[in-house]
Amino acid sequence: MSLKYDICVVGGCGHVGLPLAAAFAKKGLKVCIYDINAAALKTVQTKKAPFLEKGLDKILKKTVDKTLFLSNQPAVVSQAKFVVVVIGTPVDEYLNPKFNDIRSFFIKLMPQFRQGQILILRSTVFPGTSALINKLFKKHRKQVEVTFCPERIAEGKALEELSELPQLISGFSRKAITQIEKLFSKIAKETIELTPLEAELAKIFINSFRYLRFAIANQFFQIANSHGVEYYKIYHAITHNYPRAKGFAKAGFAAGPCLLKDTMQLAAFSRNTFFLGHAAMLINEGLPNYIMSQLKLKFDLAEKKVGILGMAFKGDSDDPRDSLSYKLKKLLELESQEVFCQDAYIKDKRFVKTPQELIRRSDIVIIGTPHTQYRKLTFGGKQVVDIWDLYGKGVMFK
Ligand SMILES: NC(=O)c1ccc[n+]([C@@H]2O[C@H](COP(=O)([O-])OP(=O)(O)OC[C@H]3O[C@@H](n4cnc5c(N)ncnc54)[C@H](O)[C@@H]3O)[C@@H](O)[C@H]2O)c1
Repeated sequence: MSLKYDICVVGGCGHVGLPLAAAFAKKGLKVCIYDINAAALKTVQTKKAPFLEKGLDKILKKTVDKTLFLSNQPAVVSQAKFVVVVIGTPVDEYLNPKFNDIRSFFIKLMPQFRQGQILILRSTVFPGTSALINKLFKKHRKQVEVTFCPERIAEGKALEELSELPQLISGFSRKAITQIEKLFSKIAKETIELTPLEAELAKIFINSFRYLRFAIANQFFQIANSHGVEYYKIYHAITHNYPRAKGFAKAGFAAGPCLLKDTMQLAAFSRNTFFLGHAAMLINEGLPNYIMSQLKLKFDLAEKKVGILGMAFKGDSDDPRDSLSYKLKKLLELESQEVFCQDAYIKDKRFVKTPQELIRRSDIVIIGTPHTQYRKLTFGGKQVVDIWDLYGKGVMFK
């Protein structure tokens, strides 16, 4: 029976799903997005991306209604050879995996799957999830080939990275692996085959590795700063013409929807013996508290108005998910006279409109996110806290 689409991307309006769907559609494959976010579907239907992603609007303009189609109906899942699932990783409020949510999701979608389809799990999952889903299909007597091919892009660079990064692929049968290898070779230069458990671990290892790397920088920053030493003077000395310091991170808020969550998934997988991961969490999540405690030592904070410049979880992004700027805001609301927020990309009625207005109204300005747009700002002698060294003047300057 001929199928309407080559690929159906479930969760295809998200930060991972949409660039992937667009990349395949650009190559001429017929792709259908199935998503439950009505607002995002509406935006993509007008050929616009619902979030910042370099080059995405251009591809949507060329592909929507030609090779890229959209639906809020689960029935489209039956109409594709490959079904990519890239919904958010279900975790509870303690960042522990919620396998029941994934199971319920697949049980609900089960009637739409048909014999011979290939499922590509693309969400970051708790190790062992692919095997459990494979079993679930067998239990429901659905001959669907289950594969796991984790996404490794960084938001904002997805399209560029999809073609540059090797794709990790894994599956439970040779037949399925051969087919997904062929599929991914249409958009990527290289594929690397692993077993599903290896691929699941590979994904959370790399995210945990990055989270730990930022924690090292944040701890070094706190050690130096607590002894009255400028961290960036040491940082520049260490990294200048010293190849072994490659990858030595700058300090800053290590946040967002992936790194902490995946580090905590690895902690749960290792039955809470991932001590480095827990230490990294304490350091990274504690950075807003550290900054506030330092400000309290230097100033009568209750008398000061503080502005946070940048609310997105990383530079040049419009994604506020799990951003530590919001945690800092909450802490400052308890301790300072008034808090102002601004972001170059996030629209929020509670924010002041421009960085200039924020600087004018604040006694102290904290750089929450190192957006490129902020690089040229001047602060008119106001106290600035720049944990990122965006201005090359160290952490505290006037
Ligand atoms: N954001 C990143 O940079 C990144 C990078 C690599 C991997 N990941 C992983 O990719 C996965 C998705 O992350 P994201 O950032 O794209 O999340 P997202 O929230 O941006 O996208 C998820 C999409 O799934 C849709 N969705 C949720 N439930 C659904 C359902 N039942 N049926 C259909 N659609 C549904 C949502 O409406 C949303 O559009 C996560 O596992 C994440 O850890 C994310």
